[in-house]
Amino acid sequence: MPHTKAMIPEVDFLNKAFRANPHEKFAELRELSTLAKVKGANAYLVTRHKECEALLKDERVSLDVMKGVEFPVNHPMQGYFKMREGLMLFTNPPLHGDLRSPVSDAMSAKSVKRYEPIIRELAGDAVKHLKSLLSRQSEIDFVKDISLPFVSKVICRVVGMPEQDHAILSSMTQRIADGLDPFGARHSLEDAGKAYSEFQSYMTEELSRGRWKKDAEQFSETFLGEIAQCPHMLGGFKNTDNLISTTVMLLSAGHLTTNHSLSLSIESFLSDEEIRPVLTEASEPISPLMLEELFRFHCPAQITRRKINAELNIGEKTWHPGQAIWLALVSANRDERIFKKGQELDLKRRPNPHLSFGSGIHFCLGAHLARLQLRVFLETIQGEFPNLSIVKEGVVRDNNLVFRGLKTLPLQV
Ligand code: HEM
Repeated sequence: MPHTKAMIPEVDFLNKAFRANPHEKFAELRELSTLAKVKGANAYLVTRHKECEALLKDERVSLDVMKGVEFPVNHPMQGYFKMREGLMLFTNPPLHGDLRSPVSDAMSAKSVKRYEPIIRELAGDAVKHLKSLLSRQSEIDFVKDISLPFVSKVICRVVGMPEQDHAILSSMTQRIADGLDPFGARHSLEDAGKAYSEFQSYMTEELSRGRWKKDAEQFSETFLGEIAQCPHMLGGFKNTDNLISTTVMLLSAGHLTTNHSLSLSIESFLSDEEIRPVLTEASEPISPLMLEELFRFHCPAQITRRKINAELNIGEKTWHPGQAIWLALVSANRDERIFKKGQELDLKRRPNPHLSFGSGIHFCLGAHLARLQLRVFLETIQGEFPNLSIVKEGVVRDNNLVFRGLKTLPLQV
């Protein structure tokens, strides 16, 4: 029987309890239908794995959800929409290829291995810092003190940006991320546009300094260092705007999600007695299966948005161009049709076709780097803090609809 609107359940993203822990509600929604009407937005949410994956790969849907929307030149959110037009994640071919191809080889599994020594050094520093803080303070915040500085320093070193600027870049990225929440406050959208302009100016200034050209050896193992070796210093990019926007994309996409995945992983190990020894006693090595399961279970980029560009069917409903659809990757990752006991963390799960890094042409460019960072950090901290525990009442979750993570993870020994 075809679906009618009346049979499609509703989802309320403004409900605080749902935002804090959406998993049970998503399970209910998946049982009822693959679609849910988003309360307060002209959009439908897709909750099942099969349909989410198919839509991520479907050329009839695109990410440029704002294309065709005209805003007056002085509109306060103009900066935000301009920002989206130029960023790889929000573009379609052929511009998408112009932005992605020049950097895709550098981010392959084989290429990112060259960053392992840098990441190991930074993870070693972070764990030393954690030891020193815990010897002086009764409580530390793993997110602010350890995870965020670690992942933002990693991405600065990989891209070739000054490591001492990592906190400035983190703050600009956080402001851009806040603007991605479709239910975010209007001032967050305006501020995201401003943050992006600041990021662009920062990058333009950095590029004009040409440090990568002058000190080729120091930067040889970095993304910008390699570009600097190419004639005209543009690598395969068609123009400087494309180079700047891709650099901003790498710097911004490259650390909030990894920060979330690292702090949520630490939280999981410390809250579950069965797997705790892996972290606190190094009872077994960190395996690729473990990493994939941590990514599936936590799904730090939990929801992504698309627009339908040509007629197509989802579930039993026919959709027309212009319709907005949101894909709940976090829900797809726990769909019992694909993942047995999907609500449970099973570090030996196999197979694990999770969608935490997306699929199709926008598949996460940094997936291999994210895997490497999580593995190296966990290997470095394993067995170092046998008595580490969470100060449970102090945990604060990030409230962003697009990203799933922690704002604060207080730890003590
Ligand atoms: C745990 C960490 C990460 C997660 C969960 C994650 C997740 C994702 C997802 C789901 C997408 C696709 C979004 C969509 O199709 O709507 C994506 C795209 C992207 N990610 Fe990641 N990401 C992570 C780490 C990274 C890192 C470390 C980098 C960069 C160094 C990065 C760079 C990118 C870029 C550039 C895109 C856009 C690709 C394109 O449009 O072709 N990500 N990421």
